[in-house]
This record gives sequence, C-alpha cells and structure tokens, in this order.
Amino acid sequence: MKLTDEEKRMVDGQAGQPVKMAMDILVAIGEIYGAEKLIPIQTAHIAGLSLKSHGIAGCEWVEDIARSGAKVCVPTTLNVVGVDRSRDLGLPQDWCTNQMRIEKAYECMGCFGTSSCVPYYQGFVPRFGESIAWAESSAVVFTNSVLGARDNREGGPTAMASGLTGRTPYYGMHLDENRKGDVLYKVTTELKDLADFGGLGAYVGKRIGTRIPVFDGISNPPLENLVSFGAALASSGGVAMFHIVGVTPEAPTVAAAFGGKKYDTVLIGKGEIEEGYKQLTSAGDTKVDYVAIGCPHYSVRQLEETARLLQGRKVAKGVTMWVHTNVAMKAVGKQLGYVQAIEDAGAIVTQDLCTVLSIPEALGVKTLATNSAKMAFYARGGNSLGVWYGSAKRCVDAAVTGSWK
Ligand code: F3S
Repeated sequence: MKLTDEEKRMVDGQAGQPVKMAMDILVAIGEIYGAEKLIPIQTAHIAGLSLKSHGIAGCEWVEDIARSGAKVCVPTTLNVVGVDRSRDLGLPQDWCTNQMRIEKAYECMGCFGTSSCVPYYQGFVPRFGESIAWAESSAVVFTNSVLGARDNREGGPTAMASGLTGRTPYYGMHLDENRKGDVLYKVTTELKDLADFGGLGAYVGKRIGTRIPVFDGISNPPLENLVSFGAALASSGGVAMFHIVGVTPEAPTVAAAFGGKKYDTVLIGKGEIEEGYKQLTSAGDTKVDYVAIGCPHYSVRQLEETARLLQGRKVAKGVTMWVHTNVAMKAVGKQLGYVQAIEDAGAIVTQDLCTVLSIPEALGVKTLATNSAKMAFYARGGNSLGVWYGSAKRCVDAAVTGSWK
C-alpha cells in the first residue's frame, strides 16, 4: 500500500503505540483486500461491544488499549450492548458489571457512550458520498443504500482502528464500481408493513449472499421499513448495500442501478414473502413468554405505534415484553408520553440494549415473538429461543394474550 509520510510515521510508532496498533490493523486489512491507499473518514461506529462477543479476555484487551492512552480522532459512536444502564432488568449482576467495563473502556478512548445500532437517529448522519468506517451490519447497509454514504462491513476492531487514526483502506464499497447491482428482483406483490419488508429481506438475503440486490416495484416505503429491510438482508445474507429503483439515491432507474452490468431477474410474489416468514419462524409451542420489538432500535414513530397498540391493554402475567430503543429516542418518547403509556401496560422500554446481545434467556424465557427479521434470525441460535415472526400488532397481541395466534 502507498502510505503518506505522516502515515509512515504512524506505522513507525511516532504517534504512539495505540495509533501504531491501529495502523498495523488497517494496513493488514488493506493488503488483504488489495487497497492501494488509506482514505480519510468522517466518522466511525464501533460494534461488537457485547460481553457475548468480547468475553472477559476481550474486555481486558480493550481496557489495556484504553489504559495505554488511545484516543479517537474522529467522532466515534458505539453500538448496542447487553445491559440497560438506566435500570435493573433482573439480569445477572456479574454480566452487567463486566458489560459496563467494556463500554467504559471505549468511552475512555473518547467514544460517545450512546450505544445504538441506529446512530443516524441520534444525530450522527453521514451525507451522500462520504466515506465512513462503521461496523454493525444493519447500519452499514442503511448508510450505503439509503443515505449513499460509503462504508464496508467493518468489524469492531477495524472500526476502532479507524476511529483512532481517522482512516480506512480504500477498497470495497468506497469504490464506484463495487456499488452497482448484481440481481434484479421485481416485486409484484404489496409489502403491507415492516414485517413484510423483513420477510422479503430474509428471503433474498439467504439467496444472494454478499452480492447487491436491486428491487423494482417498491414505492415510497417509510424510513423504518427501510431500516428493517436492510437489517434483514444483512443478517440472513452478507449484504452491504441494496438499491430500490426510484427510492434509493444511486438507483433513479434500473439502468443506473446496474451501471451497464449484465444481470439476472427474479420475480417476487406473495409466496416468496411467505417463505421469508417461514425461514424466520422456529417456535413449535404457541405459548409466548417473551416479546421483543425494536430491532434495529425503534424510532419515535415506532414508540408511538407501540403505545397505540397497547392502549387499554395489559401485558399478560408471565410474559416479559421489551421494546428496544436508544437514549435519544427514549428521551423524546418520554416527553411525548409514549414511554409512560407502554410501561403502564406492563412492557419495558429498554435503553441502549438489544435481545441478541443480551441474555434474556437468563430470566427463564423460552419463546420469543418479534417483528424483527434480524432478531428472529439471531435469537434462535444466539439466545436459544423458539421464535415467532410477524407484525408489530401480532407481537403486541401475543404479549397481551400470552400466545401466538
Ligand atoms: Fe440492533 Fe441488536 Fe437488532 S444491534 S439491529 S437491536 S440485533
């Protein structure tokens, strides 16, 4: 790789040991992927903060880096964690303590301690064409596809290295030629709600792997459905970007989305969406004891919807219902009365936490109902839960009745 004189000094350790370590990581990644150089980034977003991914060894590793004086040099946000620092949810104390050690270490490096998978709801919004180094697959696919920013599917350590140096290797999604579509999906059926978007994302994600899908026939989707759609594609597959013709900024037309490349066409009807739902459902027992919605973290509009669906109802005895969001959305939701309304009905609005990165199974729950394709995908193996997948309304009905209809 061609490095500038300043970058060579950073590699030599003249900017300190933490920067040298970060440069070693970025240069190694750049060489693996054939990057010709490093480029500047505007922001970084570090994921993989959960104690589940770090373990105690990872926790000590990050603490060592923080103690060595590492400081980020561009705005750097943190992803979701496995604990809600604002309240006791009944999770094991040692789990909470060690999880908070990890967050604290990153905060000591200067990262913003607002842990969320939707930093763009919290004021960190990359603009079109801007290069960033964000981990968290759902945020990567959203920023590439919906905002038109440029981001590879970073891992936690590479995002941290980029935060410490303000650089990322120039390869993959930073290059124009890698942002064109590979397969055209003609959607011939109506996508009724967020869960249908998740069903489609799961169906296509499983089949397309890391290639770029282009969708034609989807008009004017709400932002939240796009967030969920990207999360589904990025979890069931390895997708970093999608195009929706006439909706996403790099796909004003089918031709523009493919940029002259040859492509196959696949028709999507009702059957394919139903197949996506089937992929995401693993429960056998219709008794539901855990309902979790808000993956990716809910917006204010979704908090309002949840409050409305719960109006005049109560979560059934023996059912735990968590609604995941971040500190900023929760603060606004509180001001508008939605948080109170949801919690009066017996659900809990969690802050900066998610089911997948936490251990709700430690509370003894066995069967989850969710409207999130990403959560459905991971909770089955990661949390050992049986999963029902469906709309927010069906999830709230399950919370109130204790069963999946
Ligand atoms: Fe966010 Fe956790 Fe879902 S990180 S996207 S709430 S799995």
